[in-house]
Amino acid sequence: MAEQNRQVLLKRRPQGMPVPEDFAIADAPLPEPGADQVLLRGIYLSLDPYMRGRISGVRSYAKPVEIGDVIEGRVVGQVARSRHPDFREGEYAFGGYGWQLYSAVDGAGLQKLDPAEAPLSTALGVLGMPGFTAYLGLANIGQPQPGETVVVSAASGAVGAVAGQLAKRAGTRVVGIAGGPDKCRYVQEELGFDACLDHRAPDLGAALDSACPKGIDVYFENVGGAVQQAVFPRLNDFGRMVMCGMISEYNDTAPRPGPNLAAVVRKRLKIQGFIVSDQRHRHAEYRAVAAPLVREGLLKYREDIVEGIDSAPTAFIGLLQGRNFGKLLVRLAPDPTR
Ligand SMILES: NC(=O)c1ccc[n+]([C@@H]2O[C@H](COP(=O)([O-])OP(=O)(O)OC[C@H]3O[C@@H](n4cnc5c(N)ncnc54)[C@H](OP(=O)(O)O)[C@@H]3O)[C@@H](O)[C@H]2O)c1
Repeated sequence: MAEQNRQVLLKRRPQGMPVPEDFAIADAPLPEPGADQVLLRGIYLSLDPYMRGRISGVRSYAKPVEIGDVIEGRVVGQVARSRHPDFREGEYAFGGYGWQLYSAVDGAGLQKLDPAEAPLSTALGVLGMPGFTAYLGLANIGQPQPGETVVVSAASGAVGAVAGQLAKRAGTRVVGIAGGPDKCRYVQEELGFDACLDHRAPDLGAALDSACPKGIDVYFENVGGAVQQAVFPRLNDFGRMVMCGMISEYNDTAPRPGPNLAAVVRKRLKIQGFIVSDQRHRHAEYRAVAAPLVREGLLKYREDIVEGIDSAPTAFIGLLQGRNFGKLLVRLAPDPTR
């Protein structure tokens, strides 16, 4: 076991796109687990777009990370020491304890993982919060019907890949939007979307017109900005916008001008936001649907794994620029199950 902990702290609040200097990386003493706590040694750290909001200091649905704090994040790890009756050394567990190698966490806040059921890393991606987000957004808001057309942005990413595949399983025509030809090829050929459009290529609007000849019934919104502007006018009557995220606007320093919403009335559109944690009690329901599909290769996923805690800030900045290709994870230590 390493003698020391290592942590990534918030040094200052980013202005616009974060830069490496906004973060500090430092060694720290190994934490001592208290009564009913577990010392967890991290194996995979999840990097997710929502962390941009947490480090901005803006009031939101969750508490911000304060200057000098360890950056928040979910981790899959192995029990290094246990003072909790339900956990034994060597077991695998998952919890939210931030960008660091070790943490002493309450056993009550940890969830045990069985590596025989699914690869450990999937608890942070396809079977974890991002996959569950896709499931909830479609089930509660998108409600795709057979024969409809569903458009999914950030389609090769952790949420988008699952949203598109589930929509396809519901009998719809699914059109992805992703950045660059490699991601688009993957979305179409590997994930089985009917088409995938490159938002970096000129004239996304014309590309949508030819990929969605019957218009768009459901838009699973992950990026906002120019992509949203191209999709919105192409929504059909009674179209639904699943407002999951708008990553292209997370580094804005001023609010963008509001949209013209006249079409919402004319077309009877439904635009609804959601936060996955609102219905965290349904995660087991999602796992029961998704885990067998993953095992049978019917729900595909891709992971983009960077090495070592020190690479977390740069990898996170890359996520905000579209440099990740699949669910972005940091390997904190070798995975003994792989
Ligand atoms: N509502 C909720 O509870 C909830 C929960 C989880 C996630 N989310 C949201 O879901 C979205 C996707 O998250 P994820 O974890 O699946 O991330 P991800 O898709 O794995 O990674 C982010 C992707 O966003 C795209 N992107 C970044 N900057 C962009 C820009 N300026 N314009 C267009 N695309 C850009 C990039 O893909 P391309 O290269 O393809 O452009 C990038 O790879 C995010 O908006 C996130 O905030 C919401």
